Amino acid sequence: MPLVSAKDMLNKARKEGYAVGQFNINNLEWTKAVLTAAEEMQSPVILGVSEGAGKYMVGFNTVSAMVKAMMETLNITVPVALHLDHGSFDAAKACIEAGFSSVMFDGSHYPIDENIAKTKEIVAYAEERGISVEAEVGSIGGEEDGVTGEGEVADPEECRQIASLGITMLAAGIGNIHGKYPENWQGLDMEVLKEIGETTDKIPLVLHGGTGIPDAMVAEAISYGVSKINVNTECQIAFAEAVRGYIEADKDKVGKGFDPRKLLHPGYEAIIRVVKEKMKLFGSPGKA
Ligand code: 13P
Repeated sequence: MPLVSAKDMLNKARKEGYAVGQFNINNLEWTKAVLTAAEEMQSPVILGVSEGAGKYMVGFNTVSAMVKAMMETLNITVPVALHLDHGSFDAAKACIEAGFSSVMFDGSHYPIDENIAKTKEIVAYAEERGISVEAEVGSIGGEEDGVTGEGEVADPEECRQIASLGITMLAAGIGNIHGKYPENWQGLDMEVLKEIGETTDKIPLVLHGGTGIPDAMVAEAISYGVSKINVNTECQIAFAEAVRGYIEADKDKVGKGFDPRKLLHPGYEAIIRVVKEKMKLFGSPGKA
């Protein structure tokens, strides 16, 4: 199946009350693991690519070609969107040119008028090409790809304005953070999320910072309109722990255990496990 925009899968999720996972990819093993898990779960999925990960994987064209070839060879039948995560204006256009099926333009650091103007421009560009667009209001705290933010809770009125521009999905800062949550984290601001859900005309809402959010909070967020949940750090930690376990057990010193295909395999399996767990938590298995 060719790549699809995230529009239909997220509108369906919003209507039926579950969320589709966005799992960020970092290399070939990651991509294969997420696609394999999605196919086994018969779940729609979104592959997230940050600008930094895009550079690491030798550019958006390389990523796009790799994902498309892999889907064909693995015979992936579930809906898959290839999505730019937290993109600049220029990166969003570059990803559309490179064959991504979905982009996030993150204008949350601009004053709201500028965020609106730039989001509108990306929507116009993406719409005629059938590409879905995610926009952001407020901001997500924590650190991702070297970018650190305090996090700012979104203003529901600004969310309403941005949601009315023809975007596909809206990310709103509600106390969520990229990376691990600190001990003293106050939790998601459910009051604000609920208000945003009520003022944005049933648009699918996006929850960034999906790592480490308690299960009950995830379920509550979905009930207020969250239809896409982004997960990155949790897969990274699981991958690192599994590969460390292999090396600490000296398995790389036995026979041809140093072969990267063997050495990285436990990491690959760990990603499949995490992705499947998250899909079950989000309610997306069987929704392909
Ligand atoms: P985590 O790394 O906290 O899972 O967040 C991922 C994310 O929000 C990507 O945009």
